[in-house]
Amino acid sequence: MHSPSPTISTGKPLLDTALGLKQNRPPVWIMRQAGRYLPEYRAVREKAGSFLDLCYTPALATEVTLQPLRRFDLDAAILFSDILVIPHALGQPVRFAQGEGPVLDPIDETTLSTLKPEKALDNLDMVLEAIERIKLALSENKTLIGFCGAPWTVATYMIGGRGSPDQAAARLFALNHPKAFAALIDILVEVSARYLIAQFRAGADMVQLFESWALNLDEEAFRSHVIEPNRRIIEKVRSFIPDAPITGFPRGAAGMLAEYAEKTGVSVLGLDFATPLDFASSNLPKTLPVQGNLDPLRLVAGGAQMEKRANAIIEAFADRPHIFNLGHGIVPQTPIAHVSRLVDLVHGR
Ligand code: CP3
Repeated sequence: MHSPSPTISTGKPLLDTALGLKQNRPPVWIMRQAGRYLPEYRAVREKAGSFLDLCYTPALATEVTLQPLRRFDLDAAILFSDILVIPHALGQPVRFAQGEGPVLDPIDETTLSTLKPEKALDNLDMVLEAIERIKLALSENKTLIGFCGAPWTVATYMIGGRGSPDQAAARLFALNHPKAFAALIDILVEVSARYLIAQFRAGADMVQLFESWALNLDEEAFRSHVIEPNRRIIEKVRSFIPDAPITGFPRGAAGMLAEYAEKTGVSVLGLDFATPLDFASSNLPKTLPVQGNLDPLRLVAGGAQMEKRANAIIEAFADRPHIFNLGHGIVPQTPIAHVSRLVDLVHGR
């Protein structure tokens, strides 16, 4: 299960909440808070060259990580990077094509053996250096969040070569080549755990496992592809960093949400915006901190559509530790004024 409530504050409201210490108002950060809706991000992105150059240049990654905190009174910074740096570090070609999203050379049962897990961490050195720099620049009361993609979600890109609405390529691969699929998941569990441990050592206060494609799985597949690999990563990380605060965000987990929380041992459960508030409230242990879950399009629309729902979310989780967030990443067309308004509303202003 998740860690017990602390009695002493760390001085960081968001980290305290993740550790089980309820606040009067929820702390807030926004998934994908550094990104294209900010003109200052687009300016740095343009001069960086490729997206991966931006991720691997510590001074630039630090700069774009801090940009949203200069504009908004957010309680956390999230490392600027991507979940696909792991396949890239394993030696799989990854490109971020303009307007197309990420594209990878797909791996299969014969090319799996070309991945180089023993080299992977060396290739992520620049990301760890960015964490050190961000930590030095960040105010004492702000939480620094590290992250990686969870194995299933990363595997869907490695096998399919790109994002897909139903993850059919990876789901079929798991059914037709169970041994090769298990070997791939084992590699991702091992490398991701080592990567997260290194992120904590570099200065991350907590980390999030992005399981963005946890949808479209039957319960058997959900248990083997999502719950078990997430559980193993958390267990490995905590064998080096006892009680490490770890958020799991199994987007689309639906009826498997409570089982995911219980079996993986996440410290915080991230809720997507389709999760009903009363369902979450009544099916999750009252001591379990939750994160979420405003529809990102309500932030685009703004006004009463955003404010009424944000207040309903705050009210629904008022009796437990709650970190306010969107229920998925912020989208590029989001007006900046709406983000300011949301952050003020959450802080009770
Ligand atoms: O939250 C943050 O601000 C930290 C940075 C961050 C990025 N990607 C930067 C990024 C984080 C946490 C991610 C996670 C990520 N990346 C996920 C999981 C979260 C989710 O949204 O489901 C996934 C699935 C990816 C893979 C990925 N990277 C996709 C599908 C895309 C293309 C879609 C898009 O938004 O463009 C990316 C590219 C990417 N990652 C961008 C950013 C800011 C945009 C690239 C650009 O600037 O050209």
